Amino acid sequence: MAHDDLRDWISALDRAGELRRIRAEVDPILEITEITDRVSKSPDGGPALLFENVKGYRGWHVLINQFGSARRMRMALGVDSLDEIAARIHHFLDVKSPEGLLEKIKMLPMLAEMGKFFPKTVSSGPCKEVIRRDDFDLLHMPVLQCWPKDAGRFITLPCVITRDPKTGKRNVGMYRMQVYDARTAGMHWQRQKVGAEHYRDAMRAAASSGASTAAARGSAGVSPAGPVAGVDLMARSGGGAIEPEGERPQGKLEVAVAIGTEPALTFAAVIPAPPDVEEFMIAGFLRHKPVELVKCETVDLEVPATAEIVLEGYVNLDELRTEGPFGDHTGFYSLEDLYPVFHVTCVTHRERPIYATTIVGKPPMEDAWMGKAIERIFLPLMRVTLPEIVDVNLPVEAVFHNLMIVSIRKSYPGHARKVMNGIWAMGQAMFTKCIVVVDEDCDVQDLREVVLRTANHIDPERDIQFTLGPVDSLDHSSRLPNFGSKMGIDATRKWPTEGFTRPWPEEIRMDEATKRRVDAMWKKLGID
Ligand SMILES: Cc1cc2nc3c(=O)[nH]c(=O)nc-3n(C[C@H](O)[C@H](O)[C@H](O)COP(=O)(O)O)c2cc1C
Repeated sequence: MAHDDLRDWISALDRAGELRRIRAEVDPILEITEITDRVSKSPDGGPALLFENVKGYRGWHVLINQFGSARRMRMALGVDSLDEIAARIHHFLDVKSPEGLLEKIKMLPMLAEMGKFFPKTVSSGPCKEVIRRDDFDLLHMPVLQCWPKDAGRFITLPCVITRDPKTGKRNVGMYRMQVYDARTAGMHWQRQKVGAEHYRDAMRAAASSGASTAAARGSAGVSPAGPVAGVDLMARSGGGAIEPEGERPQGKLEVAVAIGTEPALTFAAVIPAPPDVEEFMIAGFLRHKPVELVKCETVDLEVPATAEIVLEGYVNLDELRTEGPFGDHTGFYSLEDLYPVFHVTCVTHRERPIYATTIVGKPPMEDAWMGKAIERIFLPLMRVTLPEIVDVNLPVEAVFHNLMIVSIRKSYPGHARKVMNGIWAMGQAMFTKCIVVVDEDCDVQDLREVVLRTANHIDPERDIQFTLGPVDSLDHSSRLPNFGSKMGIDATRKWPTEGFTRPWPEEIRMDEATKRRVDAMWKKLGID
């Protein structure tokens, strides 16, 4: 069942006993993090928290940990099991060309359902209850300082909306935003993300239209474009090296940010979807209902009509500013770097808006449950390219992109390596630092079994493959920012056709007859 908006979702959480309302006064500076971190570390992820008395923010409520358990993740997406979503995706991918009228007629319900994926533009919505063109300040919102050594206060659960200057398609991505002052914030879209590509496309368009170029302009805190920084400036900022020596065309890219959207859309902003697939459609698919959009006041973009808060504005193509450090998903602070600056032109919001946020840090946190949902939902999509994949596990402790364990139906020599290379070529799976490939009879969700197989089945020099490529911007150990090495471990049984000519030993298993005899005598043994 689709949730109409954040308030409807909060009511559902309340009814299900999944929400705690905190009436004691709590500071958005560090205290909300410490409370939420303790709750997130409880075995099932703890309840969602609604802080109703935020210090210095009378009238504001703060929602956190809304996705922070397996049950809430299922509730957010309106399913009893995430496999239902995987099955629906499979159903749509499995379409064969209809033969004859009857088969065409049978496809009509599917086409009708697809009609619900497309967003609908409506004339107005609750996000316009209050429109502030002048009298706004980003710190009117109870933005958290999450960790002691963070560079400041960060908006952590924003749906950042941009339009591809080439195709006109929209993207919704979740990129944190460091609040610099009343009207500016950092726009932390990492270089490989779709928002950053829209930004580069805007630069390409401006450069080809002959817009004057200038060395990157800066607000306070911009690193000077010295000889080394200058060459690398575009690349480091997510801009992409289309201009030498830090020369950047002038111009803007319009951006809108929705905070406190209904949960399917918030989740869709995190999904590593192909760049050309609008997340509004993904949310429509997940909720079986179109997302309603309204036009912005000051930019040519549409935003979810029921969002609690909308920030409208733009980023200058020739302006970068230091962003970070920030206590990140990895459990370590991500280092400061240069990112574009978001300038706010208008804020619209609901009456008594609810500020939705999250914290990231040492796992497990709320994002662990979102990541696990993505793992399940993406399995059928991975199988489109790599049908030999049986199952996948991205352990939470390895922060998802650091380790992927994958089981395969091995059919030919070198198959495990083909799968590794296929994964490194697949969207944001390119970030995967280590891939362990095991045979289909290994349950990848059972880490003991995986360790046993991996440790036993490898001749390290033969079975570990290194390669170079893009790595996550948050990787603090790679040789260069965003570029480093990856490792694949082939922990499958080795075959003679792979050069392994000794016999491969059989796994130890007790025979069924003995097991049954021992079952029958177990009580008499007096061991329990
Ligand atoms: C809580 C949270 C915060 C995130 N912050 C960032 C961020 O600051 N920058 C970034 O590039 N990705 C961030 N991500 C990951 C992106 O949301 C994710 O890669 C998404 O697929 C990007 O969307 P896109 O493919 O449309 O660019 C974050 C994810 C979560 C769950």
